Amino acid sequence: MIDCLYVHVLSLILERNIRFRMLQPTPGMKHFFIAGNWKSFKGQNDARTWFAEFISLWKTGTHQWSSVTAVLCPPYTLLPFARDALSETTIPLQLGAQDVSPLGEGAYTGEINAGQVSEFASWTIIGHSERRKNLGETDPLLIQKVSQAKAAGLHIMYCVQDESVFVPDGVDVIAYEPPWAISAVSGGIAQNPESANRVCEKIVAKHPGIPVIYGGSTTPDNVLSFVRQPAISGVLPGGASMDPTKFFRMIELLATVS
Ligand code: PGA
Repeated sequence: MIDCLYVHVLSLILERNIRFRMLQPTPGMKHFFIAGNWKSFKGQNDARTWFAEFISLWKTGTHQWSSVTAVLCPPYTLLPFARDALSETTIPLQLGAQDVSPLGEGAYTGEINAGQVSEFASWTIIGHSERRKNLGETDPLLIQKVSQAKAAGLHIMYCVQDESVFVPDGVDVIAYEPPWAISAVSGGIAQNPESANRVCEKIVAKHPGIPVIYGGSTTPDNVLSFVRQPAISGVLPGGASMDPTKFFRMIELLATVS
């Protein structure tokens, strides 16, 4: 009886440590993150086609994604559909929102609050450069969003455009995304992986223990050159995630990289 209890407690401690380590950018034993950002693209028919293809790719894939946290961030309107499509499968693809309201529940017309998001998704992106630029989002607003997301139990992927950008406490992953390297701006030309790594090293030094991922024109062809850099723990593809074959291939590459 005491032995059983001892083994149980020991396994809980081990599990906690493994989970904790999974969030650390440990050299030689990296856990990878990949988050697909569909931005303001796709309607229900596109999503239906995307999931049909992704699910059929999964059936022929490795099924070995334990070293990867894979997240898909469709528009809010497609989160219920995505959740239902995935619920009929064993695919370990988590869902995320692309943003969250800085306000809670209330008379805030047009806002989607963190509690509402948490009914469908476990992650949210906050601070994407496209929102900072097109919607004028500022640090104080983003701090409020982080606080709302945390209170609702969402994991946060917080975007920064360089190492000098403020990062609020409590975020789970930092996504370094130089705006000029985003495919819609750069025409698909990513930052050089070594120079991206130098920026990520500075971010890691400022925020020890928080995994840092790179975003900006990542594809199946260049994903490994980024994650093989010591300070880069994953990628945030936009354009490539809209193609199920490319997104699936990127996850599989991360899952099998040694
Ligand atoms: P991209 O987008 O991969 O199309 O460059 C990245 C992002 O903005 O999230």
